[in-house]
Amino acid sequence: MTLTLVSVGLSSHLDLSLRAIEAAKSAHHVYAEEYTMRLDTTVETLEATIGRPVTPLPRGGMEEDASRLLEAAENSDIAILVGGDALAATTHLSLLVDAARRSIPVKVVHGSSVFTAIAESGLSLYKFGRTVTVPMPEKGPVDTVLRTLKENAEYGLHTLLLLDLDVPAGRYLTVPEAITRLEKTGEFPLDTLVVAAARLGSDSQIIRADAALNLKDADYGGPPYALVVPGQLHFLEEEALQVMAGCPPGLLEGRRVQGELDRLVEKYVKGCRRVLEVIKVAELPSELTGEAVTGLLDHARRYLEDADYYRVEQKPVALASVAYAEGVLDALKLLGLADFQW
Ligand SMILES: C[S@@+](CC[C@H](N)C(=O)[O-])C[C@H]1O[C@@H](n2cnc3c(N)ncnc32)[C@H](O)[C@@H]1O
Repeated sequence: MTLTLVSVGLSSHLDLSLRAIEAAKSAHHVYAEEYTMRLDTTVETLEATIGRPVTPLPRGGMEEDASRLLEAAENSDIAILVGGDALAATTHLSLLVDAARRSIPVKVVHGSSVFTAIAESGLSLYKFGRTVTVPMPEKGPVDTVLRTLKENAEYGLHTLLLLDLDVPAGRYLTVPEAITRLEKTGEFPLDTLVVAAARLGSDSQIIRADAALNLKDADYGGPPYALVVPGQLHFLEEEALQVMAGCPPGLLEGRRVQGELDRLVEKYVKGCRRVLEVIKVAELPSELTGEAVTGLLDHARRYLEDADYYRVEQKPVALASVAYAEGVLDALKLLGLADFQW
């Protein structure tokens, strides 16, 4: 028999595809998972749309009661309705894996998702890094969120922040709460460019790009909510953010996407400037050994090896590696510790 995960889509029963309705209709038992996502619909409306009874899964049913679902799928065709896209939540993937392990045939009906709908903000989906959820205050700190923002920013990537929810309790972390949580860490300045999204895919969706400060006190209506902290922007993204999300143009200055070479030059120049500002000349060593100089030469050789490696890989960092080796050799020459001509 079969286990089919059926994506309902982003907003309500109106997002069910014909394939989704067919899959649910032909199953012996239809369940609805209502805990990873809030949909603007009811079980009764889903039943009327599909033409079959729908059993809501008990709280945590997908995780704790997975074996019951798998047993049911061993003897009958079961379909599980999931909000958004069924695979855009790790819980559901692990159910599929467990089913496949038990040799239960699995099927997935894919659907619309926050992970793609967010492109309506004007940001390119190809430039998103790791996604992370901003937890409710009672569920723990936001360290992982800050770390993810930093890591993605390092590569110029956008970060999608999902805002925590507890559907049965009717509790949803709001945009102002999420921004306030991040601001309180002292590592999220309020002039950060942020895109706030509410109820994507519904008729009342909101997508707004502005400084965190200006988004912090706005009213976004009902859930669900998500945020994006953009990384570097292509000029088409800049234009789209202004047109699609009302981004004030002044906020976009200096965020243009750079080529890798630009990025590396900026990174190394920044590093060198910082060192030159704080550098302290050490006491002259009482004895400068030949070993120390040979050690430095080995260092230069290793950078040359790196340069060769990256050149084969066609990586612009090859240029930085060879320049570093050259710098070390020049330093030895300037200190009178080596004699050569370029
Ligand atoms: C656990 S994820 C589930 C994602 C879902 N399976 C999907 O494919 O869209 C739930 C989170 O996604 C975000 N989200 C889901 N639907 C959204 C929507 N229509 N508008 C804005 N954010 C949404 C919210 O942050 C919500 O807490």
